[in-house]
Amino acid sequence: MKAAVVSSFAAAPRYQEFPAPAPAGDHDMVVDVIAAGLHPRVRSQADGSHYTSTGELPLVPGIDGVGRGADGLLRYFILPDTRVGAMAEQTVIDTRRSIVLPSGSDPIAVAAAMNPAMSSWVALRQRVQFHAGQNVLVLGATGNAGRMAVQIAKLLGADQIIAAGRNAARLAGLPALGASGTVLLDGDAGTAARLLGRAASDVDVVIDYLWGQPTAAAMTAVVTGRADRGKPLTWIEIGSAAGPTAPIPSAALRAAHLTIVGCGQGSVTTREILAELPALAQQITNGTFDIDARPIPLADVEQAWAGAAHTAQRIVLTPRPWPRPADAAGER
Ligand SMILES: NC(=O)c1ccc[n+]([C@@H]2O[C@H](COP(=O)([O-])OP(=O)(O)OC[C@H]3O[C@@H](n4cnc5c(N)ncnc54)[C@H](OP(=O)(O)O)[C@@H]3O)[C@@H](O)[C@H]2O)c1
Repeated sequence: MKAAVVSSFAAAPRYQEFPAPAPAGDHDMVVDVIAAGLHPRVRSQADGSHYTSTGELPLVPGIDGVGRGADGLLRYFILPDTRVGAMAEQTVIDTRRSIVLPSGSDPIAVAAAMNPAMSSWVALRQRVQFHAGQNVLVLGATGNAGRMAVQIAKLLGADQIIAAGRNAARLAGLPALGASGTVLLDGDAGTAARLLGRAASDVDVVIDYLWGQPTAAAMTAVVTGRADRGKPLTWIEIGSAAGPTAPIPSAALRAAHLTIVGCGQGSVTTREILAELPALAQQITNGTFDIDARPIPLADVEQAWAGAAHTAQRIVLTPRPWPRPADAAGER
């Protein structure tokens, strides 16, 4: 079969022949892959920098996607750590780590959105006691996960949603998706901190995709700007687009009712994550969210890899010609 194959962690995957995978366990199923998202997690898998990397090559990247098995059903799947990922004509899924998609699902939209969307969806529904009427700050709101977080917070009933990010053009589009205010993190750090302290000091929840120095600065600004230091503030660490470590000021934890939690595979069980996916897939299928996806044929994977560094859109690789009418209509 054809696949995107990583033969060196220093180079982009190449479109070439790779042995077709075979099912091994009772719950394994071979699927024809229709769409696979090029998420940040996939890039770190392909360059060997992800903490789960075993250093073994060659490998086919791709952690999730949409595919169709011999039963004809269209599924969204999340792969376990494997060297035969989703960026191939076929992959082997564990059906217990998949959901059958609702009728009418667009595989491109699902493959683009499930990974970034599930981060805030699961965080707000599983990691905190979030309820309608609370106020939310999204740090790193201009990325794909941040854009989805703004929309999901709105859907789940947030009152004020403050969107903070460094890309002015993307930030400007967020009020139309539900943000009640925006803070530009570009430029002078002191100005950004002042603006954050003013706009977001009374939020109940922070959904953080940045970490690193921007988080340390934002945490100080939010905590010191709080009118009521006793009001609970939950900071959910979800991504690390700005750095894997952050110099958290000790005073932040003493000076306010601040709790820091993480959300990702491990802090929420796979079973708990999977239980959330049907409802999220239904919202995607309903067209609830604005999803910024760009489908690219798998054969063009090298160009897609280079282009991903220069586009804010979520690239989705398609191993077979797209759109196929049957897939577009969600037929099974
Ligand atoms: N835990 C989970 O379940 C989960 C799920 C999905 C994603 N994530 C993680 O969440 C993070 C974001 O994912 P994504 O899908 O949104 O990625 P993305 O679409 O590539 O967006 C990343 C965003 O981070 C911004 N950024 C990078 N460095 C920054 C800095 N120093 N200051 C301000 N903004 C900065 C980028 O801005 P520019 O456009 O200006 O570069 C971009 O808007 C990643 O770390 C990803 O691994 C976690």
